[in-house]
Amino acid sequence: MTSDSPPTVSRSPFPASPVITIDGPSASGKGTVAERVARALGFHFLDSGALYRLTALSAMKAGVALDDETSVARLAAELPASFHDGAVWLVDENVTAAIRAEAVGAGASQVAALPAVRDALLGRQRAYRQPPGLVADGRDMGTVIFPDAPAKVFLTASAEARAERRYKQLIEKGNSANLTDLVADMQARDARDTSRAVAPLRPAPDALLLDTTHMDIDSAVQAVLAHYRSRS
Ligand code: DC
Repeated sequence: MTSDSPPTVSRSPFPASPVITIDGPSASGKGTVAERVARALGFHFLDSGALYRLTALSAMKAGVALDDETSVARLAAELPASFHDGAVWLVDENVTAAIRAEAVGAGASQVAALPAVRDALLGRQRAYRQPPGLVADGRDMGTVIFPDAPAKVFLTASAEARAERRYKQLIEKGNSANLTDLVADMQARDARDTSRAVAPLRPAPDALLLDTTHMDIDSAVQAVLAHYRSRS
């Protein structure tokens, strides 16, 4: 989430601001595409996955078990998180890099399966809908959080293509990585995210399906912008 100041809930009598929802599996490129679409339109940007990552990190730091639904949901409801100076903060600690660690991603996937945690984060996500508009990136933006969004996109790519992208990112950052393990991780996370009982990863019925296996970021950004313009 990169709006510079925390959102306030709008009490405007005017129609709700437009929202473009971009959902899809991990490493589909949706984060980069969503950020660039938001920048092109001058819209706010919600990285909802960051909220699940922050919740998991808070639980890990507090020694709360990731399957203790009540305690994790309480942490999610009271998350002392903020997004400013291009960074993500938990109280006054810069956790931008920490929330991207693989272990925190795995923890986020676990806590995201808990209904009380999803409920606790609902209002916070909707509060990002502010003028002039919002681009919301996640798994259930078009199905649960903003079902009335005028433009919805489901961005995907094959597990192999996504694993390869993640592999390149890790190697570029000087980490070691194993492509076969990454494909297996990707498939396991997809299975968990699509089969969970609450808000499973699936396209909204009215979403544009965009397969980026053979598409570069620029083309994906242009396709999303064209879809939005065709709907507004
Ligand atoms: O997009 P990401 O990798 O930062 O998301 C981290 C985890 O959070 C991922 O396993 C799926 C979950 N998530 C979710 O369930 N719903 C969202 N709207 C966003 C993320």
